[in-house]
Amino acid sequence: MSWLEERVALITGGASGIGFAVAERFLAEGAKVAILDRSKEDVDKVATAHDDVVGVVGDVTSYQDNVRAVQKTVQAFGKLDVFIGNAGIFDYFVHLADCEGEKLGKAFDEIFSVNVKAYLLGARAALPELLKCDDPSVIFTVSNSGFYTSGGGPLYTASKHGVVGVVRELAYELAPKIRVNGVAPGGTITGLRGIEKLEQGDTVLSTVPDIEQLMSTTNPLQYAQRPADHAGLYVLLASPQNSRAVTGVVINSDGGLGVRGMVQPAGGMELTS
Ligand SMILES: NC(=O)c1ccc[n+]([C@@H]2O[C@H](COP(=O)([O-])OP(=O)(O)OC[C@H]3O[C@@H](n4cnc5c(N)ncnc54)[C@H](O)[C@@H]3O)[C@@H](O)[C@H]2O)c1
Repeated sequence: MSWLEERVALITGGASGIGFAVAERFLAEGAKVAILDRSKEDVDKVATAHDDVVGVVGDVTSYQDNVRAVQKTVQAFGKLDVFIGNAGIFDYFVHLADCEGEKLGKAFDEIFSVNVKAYLLGARAALPELLKCDDPSVIFTVSNSGFYTSGGGPLYTASKHGVVGVVRELAYELAPKIRVNGVAPGGTITGLRGIEKLEQGDTVLSTVPDIEQLMSTTNPLQYAQRPADHAGLYVLLASPQNSRAVTGVVINSDGGLGVRGMVQPAGGMELTS
């Protein structure tokens, strides 16, 4: 029996992309799932597809909305075992020199609010309920940009490096009771949107021309990832039966960006003997 049976997870940004894939995987493992997402349309779609999912429409940058999501989760399912901070936005590779200074400041505030501050607010709102459970867990979605350059511009890269700091500090502070880990996807075909202050609020990653080819040519596995490719890692990190001694760790799920080497791999190697 999976540890996730009878467990309850709250996933921010769970109405689409990676968060939705994680929600579906947790449901398949027998978990109860609640999602907090700003898109009412997508939350309604999830609720239609899965009538047992608790959908909360709200803004992750609001502490009150995070508290409301925790309350609704506990009202529906009686507890909260796993908090997954996942909602995020991208900067569409805007370089420092190409961003006017005043705009840069506003864009910084927006992306750090969603990608970093909201993870802290969500974890804080979930904390009292997590502390009541056996083997609770917090998992954050990081990114290859939490480790490497050029997976975004400086705003996104700095925000995701910040998330690595959040994982590590909270793993330290919340031990021994709560394990805190991260999953760092590489380029994944989703509807990830940009920074509104940079007029990118309606830009959708999956519609960028040649995105599949761009993503698949940057990693050794030559693979443009799909949201479901990452979902099993959240299951692994949430389940003490699989990861009881793992905390403060970020698992890279990016087609091998860390072993890109000095030249592009030849690809298509043939075994000669
Ligand atoms: N797609 C990629 O290539 C990629 C790569 C690495 C990491 N990530 C990270 O994965 C996470 C999920 O992104 P995704 O790619 O699945 O994109 P996505 O847009 O499909 O999912 C993000 C979800 O977050 C929600 N959201 C955004 N801002 C919000 C807010 N203020 N309040 C509430 N909900 C909000 C969106 O409505 C959306 O449903 C993000 O943290 C992103 O940075 C994505």
